Amino acid sequence: MASEMLTKSCWATLGNIRRIHTTAASGQRLKKFLVYRWNPDKPEEKPSMKEYEVDLDTSGPMVLDALIKIKNEMDPTLTFRRSCREGICGSCAMNIQGTNTLACISNIDKNLNKPMKIYPLPHMYVVKDLVPDMNNFYNQYKSIQPWLQRKDEPESGTAQYLQSIDDRKKLDGLYECILCACCSTSCPSYWWNGDKYLGPAVLMQAYRWIIDSRDESTAARLDSLRDPFSVYRCHTIMNCTRTCPKGLNPGKAISEIKKLLSGIVKKDKPGLDTAALHN
Ligand code: SF4
Ligand code: SF4
Ligand code: FES
Repeated sequence: MASEMLTKSCWATLGNIRRIHTTAASGQRLKKFLVYRWNPDKPEEKPSMKEYEVDLDTSGPMVLDALIKIKNEMDPTLTFRRSCREGICGSCAMNIQGTNTLACISNIDKNLNKPMKIYPLPHMYVVKDLVPDMNNFYNQYKSIQPWLQRKDEPESGTAQYLQSIDDRKKLDGLYECILCACCSTSCPSYWWNGDKYLGPAVLMQAYRWIIDSRDESTAARLDSLRDPFSVYRCHTIMNCTRTCPKGLNPGKAISEIKKLLSGIVKKDKPGLDTAALHN
C-alpha cells in the first residue's frame, strides 16, 4: 500500500516537472522590451516608447537578437543599425537600460518582471527610431586627419616605414577603437558643446596619430587642438571610459593630449629610423 502511494506521488511530481517544461517550450518566457520610436514621416507625432514581448525560448541571447526578432516577426517598421553582430563595426551602439553600449554584445536581462528599455544614443539628432545622425561625429573625425603624414613621402607602395616594438606598443589601447560613439554620447561636455568640443572618441584618435612614431605632423596636429573648445571642454568626469564597450580609456588619452599641449611632456624621438629602408 505504501509503495502504491509512493508510486502515485512520483507520477504526480513527474507530471508537474513535465508541465513546467512544456509551458516553457511553448513560449511562456516572455520578456518585455520598451523601444524608443520616432518616425520622421509623421513629424506631428511625438516620440514614444513602444512595447514588444519577445519569447526568450525562440530568441538569441543578445539584445540585438531580440531587436532583429521584433523586426522580422512583429514590426518591420522598427529601424536600427547593425552589421557585424560581434562588436566590431560599432553600428549597433544604443542606450540599453541607461548605458551606452553595443546591442550585439549585450545579454538580454533574463528577469521577466523587468522590461528592457532601449533608446538611441543620447543627445544626438535622431534620423528614425534607434538611428542617430552621425554626421557631426564623422565630420569631427575627418577634421583630425586620421592618416599617417610625412614631410617627404615616397611613392605610395614603394617603401615601408619602420617602427620599434616599443613605439608600436604605444598604439595599443588606441587603435582598437571602433568609433561606435558610445563614449562621446555619454560625455556631458559633448552633450552641451558637441559642435565645438571634439569629444572622447575623436580625441583618442587624434592622440593615436599624435603619438605614432612614424607620423611627422605632430606639431601641426597639436596646434589644431590649441583652442578653448576642441580639447579643454573635457573636465575629466570619465563617463567616457566607464561606458566604452571595448574597455578602452579615452579619458586617459585626452589627459595625455593636455600634457603634450601644455609642454609638460614631449613626444619621444622614434626608437628606429623610420625611413631607413628609403633611398
Ligand atoms: S573625461 Fe572628458 S571626455 Fe570623458 S566623459 Fe569626462 S568630460 Fe567627457
Ligand atoms: S573609445 Fe570605446 S566607446 Fe569610444 S568610440 Fe571607441 S570603442 Fe566606442
Ligand atoms: S553589429 Fe557590429 S558592433 Fe554590433
